[in-house]
Amino acid sequence: MDDLRNKYLAAIADAGDEASLETLRVTAVGKKGEISLKMRELGKMTPDERQIAGPKLNALKDEINSALAAKKVALADAALDERLRGEWLDVTLPGRGAARGMGTIHPVSQVMDEVAAIFADMGFAVAEGPQVESDWYNFDALNIPGHHPARAEMDTFYMARSEGDNRPPHVLRTHTSPVQIRTMEAQGAPLRIIAPGRVYRADYDQTHTPMFHQIEGLAIDRDISMANLKWVLEEFFSVFFGLDGIKTRFRASHFPFTEPSAEVDIQCSWVDGQLRLGEGDGWLEVLGSGMVHPKVLQAAGVDPAAWQGFAFGMGIDRIAMLKYGIPDLRAFFDSDLRWLRHYGFSALDVPTLQGGLNG
Ligand code: PHE
Repeated sequence: MDDLRNKYLAAIADAGDEASLETLRVTAVGKKGEISLKMRELGKMTPDERQIAGPKLNALKDEINSALAAKKVALADAALDERLRGEWLDVTLPGRGAARGMGTIHPVSQVMDEVAAIFADMGFAVAEGPQVESDWYNFDALNIPGHHPARAEMDTFYMARSEGDNRPPHVLRTHTSPVQIRTMEAQGAPLRIIAPGRVYRADYDQTHTPMFHQIEGLAIDRDISMANLKWVLEEFFSVFFGLDGIKTRFRASHFPFTEPSAEVDIQCSWVDGQLRLGEGDGWLEVLGSGMVHPKVLQAAGVDPAAWQGFAFGMGIDRIAMLKYGIPDLRAFFDSDLRWLRHYGFSALDVPTLQGGLNG
């Protein structure tokens, strides 16, 4: 019986996995196992022999069963340790997906949102129009007839017409002013809108790109005047640049679609090569504006005898460069991720229309 005991305890200790442990259990204490067979032999013994052998066999069976159970637990622990070693992970590694893929709000989108929010507070709604525009909306309705020099000055991109089609070609809109016409046609007077969007001109240098962004403003009512225009713009620039009152200068100018027309400058100065807005005796041009020309109201179906109003057009990229100190306009559209991370805005930090109203 000691041989039996030693044999099985040694084999259990040596078992390398649960399968060989199970085989051992069957050969030792299974129904037809060696120890079970020995217990059956008890019946053939004399009562005296049985009294000695019985308890010993039972004790051996118990001992082997508990050795099997203990070994089973040890093997399971070892298997788990092995798996954990194989699946070791460094929780301090940077994430592969979400953390690095988190984008930023482009300065143009950010500034469009800021501008829209400020004008919304003054009762202006946001309007839109197509980027491929008809000759009528981009020019004629705005009092720029076919022969007008303003057409040549705008470096227009023309869309192709099919062979034999002699109608004037569509254009990539050269400004957001066509949205004035479309909105007046659709809504009539009175109205107050801004229209942000892309515009196109064949031009390329440090301050010009063939695609850029404008924001159009239009207010039509019974007695809107230049004084309203001046107040609205000064209010806008003060809030936008975060300055306590900023001076504007209106310079007489000419646009076919406004009369009178004015170019608007904001007060600034240069200190050690650094631009300072709202102080000093320098001026920086920021937009074109004027009182909507009666011919434009008429072209859009609004009675010029009953209604009047102001309009302005401002470069979004330009004021974004001024506010956030971005030196080169061309970099706006290079899609360089390093630039975008540097100048972009976090959708979580800044409440924006594009990023979600989470502020
Ligand atoms: N559309 C003009 C431009 O692109 C700007 C402007 C808009 C001027 C509205 C006056 C009124 O330069």
